Amino acid sequence: MCGIVGYIGDQQAYPVLIKGLHRLEYRGYDSAGIALINEKGDLSCYKAKGKVSALEAAVSDKDVTGTIGIAHTRWATHGEPNEINAHPHFSQSRNLALVHNGIIENYKSLRSMLSSHGRTFCSETDTEVLVQLVEYMQESHDCNLFTATQLALKNVVGAYAIAILDKNNPDTLVCARKGSPLIIGVGKNEDGKNPEFYLGSDATPIIEYTDQVIYLQEEEIALMNRAGDLTITNLANVKQTPQLSTLQLSLDQLEKGGYPHFMLKEIWEQPDALRTCIRGRLNVSNKDVILSGIIDHKEKFINARRIIICACGTSWHSALIGKYFIEEAAQIPVEVEYASEFRYRNPVIYPDDVVIAVSQSGETADTLAAIQLAKQKGAFLYGICNVIGSSIARATDSGTYLHVGPEIGVASTKAFTGQVITLALLGLAIAKEKHSLSDEMFHMLIDELEMIPDKMQWTLEHNKDIASFAQMFTYAKNFIYLGRGYNYPVALEGALKLKEISYIHAEGYPAAEMKHGPIALIDEEMPVVVIAPKKGMYDKIVSNIQEIKSRKGKIISVVTEGDTVVRDMSDYCFVIPDTRDCYVPMLAVIPLQLLSYYVAVAKGRNVDQPRNLAKSVTVE
Ligand code: AGP
Ligand code: GLU
Repeated sequence: MCGIVGYIGDQQAYPVLIKGLHRLEYRGYDSAGIALINEKGDLSCYKAKGKVSALEAAVSDKDVTGTIGIAHTRWATHGEPNEINAHPHFSQSRNLALVHNGIIENYKSLRSMLSSHGRTFCSETDTEVLVQLVEYMQESHDCNLFTATQLALKNVVGAYAIAILDKNNPDTLVCARKGSPLIIGVGKNEDGKNPEFYLGSDATPIIEYTDQVIYLQEEEIALMNRAGDLTITNLANVKQTPQLSTLQLSLDQLEKGGYPHFMLKEIWEQPDALRTCIRGRLNVSNKDVILSGIIDHKEKFINARRIIICACGTSWHSALIGKYFIEEAAQIPVEVEYASEFRYRNPVIYPDDVVIAVSQSGETADTLAAIQLAKQKGAFLYGICNVIGSSIARATDSGTYLHVGPEIGVASTKAFTGQVITLALLGLAIAKEKHSLSDEMFHMLIDELEMIPDKMQWTLEHNKDIASFAQMFTYAKNFIYLGRGYNYPVALEGALKLKEISYIHAEGYPAAEMKHGPIALIDEEMPVVVIAPKKGMYDKIVSNIQEIKSRKGKIISVVTEGDTVVRDMSDYCFVIPDTRDCYVPMLAVIPLQLLSYYVAVAKGRNVDQPRNLAKSVTVE
């Protein structure tokens, strides 16, 4: 949650920081703030409730000069979103300013200790405790900012990415991380001599200036100065060697490209994104699947007693589709776990289990903690992430990147279909090693998978004009989504998409479960979205639709091109091309993404930044 930006170098910091905040706004957007030290040595700080644009408006007549600064866009955990609780927070003397991403779990005891030493607090946040603690260490140990930060962090329980400015040291910037991501960008000042430094919660605020970055590791503290020196130590003050990496991200991938929202852009990007995802991995001419992530570890998969997939939210839905596919193709039992539950219930894990983390951001705190637990218990860890170099990608033994490009809209779309196709590739790659599918079936699945991006394009073209149809459902207080087999997780995903961006309550159910209770909800007001492709359980789902129609529910269906039976029973129909059962989710989800998008737009919602949500959930 939340975004941190920082800069020290020869440029004016404000434009870098504000642009960086805009790029990070998807991570948190209930308030924003900025602190700068100007040429005279004054430390100025400005904050505003709401979006980054509110902060920009608030500083329009203020002095924002200075070549060193830090900035923050918040997703509140401790204390309501208001100006006082917005970051940066100050130490007692107001010499130190700090921004923080994460949660300080022992903030109460630290706060009372600091209060007993005469420190007073202005905000309700856990963050203010941290900056007060650093200054307390500075004063009580008579040490510099870097050492004081080390000492303070040794006393902290919880997760943090922090950046600190010190008015008395206008030529240094200090940052640290544990459990929350932080990246240092190393650029070149105009004179080409000393490096300048950027900080970001992810690479998006940095990429415009440099592609050379250092991913700060767990419990590392870094000191950057104007002379271009960078010192990194761990909490025990042992020097660490910075590892420079080159970013693989381009600026135009981060722009809206003419679409009104990132979400719509990302929905339309899906065919190309999935083509990129399978490129070099799916070889139709040789009828082969090559996943470099499993090549060196194929024994782990062949001999796996079980696969456990840990994920949250949309990634959990794609994991469920992955379970069905891997069990069917590779004949290995697969369990799908909510990472947040798994991590706290002492699960049984065997050394011959493979634990897969599925996460778009690669930073979800619960998913990260779940795999750390699995690692302690000796399991082999595999990561399926989108963000390159993310914490989960680095914490796993091996893995596969989605390569679907940056996903900025808070509602996940292309990452979902990217995860589904990646899990299908994984299932096929394991099936190849285990010879668990007949050659004929294996080849058929490869050929069909290759056609999915084109079929997605077809689906988009044939379902694009639904804005006025979606308008008819703005009245609805509830929606039900139904699917069976591979399409049950699609029903869950369709319902989540609608909930999170339109704020309409929605539930996803396995269609046959309706009669065990939820059917009581059906009346003429209730829109029921049914995924009913002409596949395996078609006749069963036709009966389920009949049950709903008899109770006057409004049927919105997703049907296979050419279907007439369900079409005639429906009030509205989305059409998808025919494909194999196991690949239907990647097509069926598209009209559901479009439906939630257009309903949310019709209701005037902030589609890319829905209330109370953030893109990366780096807190528990
Ligand atoms: C998706 O639309 C959601 N915003 C959310 O459920 C998300 O999928 C979840 O937080 C997991 O994120 P991750 O994939 O980055 O781990
Ligand atoms: N816990 C801090 C707060 O509530 C930081 C939250 C964040 O990561 O944005 O202010």
